[in-house]
Amino acid sequence: MVLLKVTDLRLYYRTTRGIVRAVDGVSFDVREGEALALVGESGCGKTSIGISIMRLLPRNVHTYDGSIVFEGIELMKLSDEELNRKIRWRKISMVFQGAMNALNPVLQVGYQVAEPLIVHEGMNKKEALKKAMDTLERVGLPREVAFRYPHELSGGMKQRVVIAMALIMNPKLVILDEPTSALDVVTQANIMNLLKRLKRQHNLSYIFITHDLALASELADRIAVMYAGKLVEIGTAEQIYLSPKHPYTQKLIGAVPTLRETKKLEFIPGEVPSLINPPPGCRFHPRCPYANDRCKREEPPMVEVEPEHYVRCWLYV
Ligand SMILES: Nc1ncnc2c1ncn2[C@@H]1O[C@H](COP(=O)(O)OP(=O)(O)OP(=O)(O)O)[C@@H](O)[C@H]1O
Ligand code: SF4
Ligand SMILES: [Mg+2]
Repeated sequence: MVLLKVTDLRLYYRTTRGIVRAVDGVSFDVREGEALALVGESGCGKTSIGISIMRLLPRNVHTYDGSIVFEGIELMKLSDEELNRKIRWRKISMVFQGAMNALNPVLQVGYQVAEPLIVHEGMNKKEALKKAMDTLERVGLPREVAFRYPHELSGGMKQRVVIAMALIMNPKLVILDEPTSALDVVTQANIMNLLKRLKRQHNLSYIFITHDLALASELADRIAVMYAGKLVEIGTAEQIYLSPKHPYTQKLIGAVPTLRETKKLEFIPGEVPSLINPPPGCRFHPRCPYANDRCKREEPPMVEVEPEHYVRCWLYV
């Protein structure tokens, strides 16, 4: 069953240099109990999609439109107050990029985890703290961690704390923005295992944002590949990882190191284009080895290449 359906989402920012089209007509859905990974290079608009769904936007927004339907409710039509009361944190929550480094240094973490219960639910402190300790346990931390300060925790423990913060109100969908990128590989693997277990135990859905395709394929049921503000390919993890169709996805896979093979890492030449003046036609054309004249002029549509597998490239039209 579809839990979240995003259609033609756009988020543009106003800057002194011009309008940044960070999310430019993006459509996808997330099903119940499913992890959808959102993958792409730095600056392609992944975080912007996350904050659009949460409607936690910066002040310099120029355009914010499209449709975001969650459990049959059009979120775009809700007031901020309604969104807060019904959806935000309760149904959809987010672990922000770098959140573990943004914990309040002078407040014991138990109170930081409990805060939404006190603020939004009006729960008393003692009760909220008990629930926070239960949630800390759910993410594999001892209850007494509630009384520690952030500097008394390792990176992996801090990351578990911010995951607990996102889970405290029992949401159905959690947006995880690069939840392991600041951690060493062993800690990263532990957090990935935790995320898998939580998903299984609570039938959670995830939008898992990462620049790392290998990591995405480990957790995700489906993978959406983003390039310069647009989705260019979406399919099951297996389809994307084993038979990528878009030249950009193929390059991304080529750039993944493997333990078994000693192949030379593929380098993706060129840079992510400016989102102020994106290239016309297919946005990938300046870096694409297959680009032809049509690619430079006309934007390719998203086409289905096999069940569940869609790609935006003239080679498949
Ligand atoms: N508040 C803002 N004002 C202006 N431009 C912004 C703002 N936030 C993000 N951008 C720009 O929008 C584009 C998309 O940014 P976003 O943070 O969504 O990318 P990302 O894919 O999450 O990148 P990363 O992998 O580095 O986290 C980038 O060009 C970024 O510089
Ligand atoms: S549409 Fe053209 S430029 Fe874009 S990825 Fe396909 S072949 Fe390359
Ligand atoms: Mg980001």
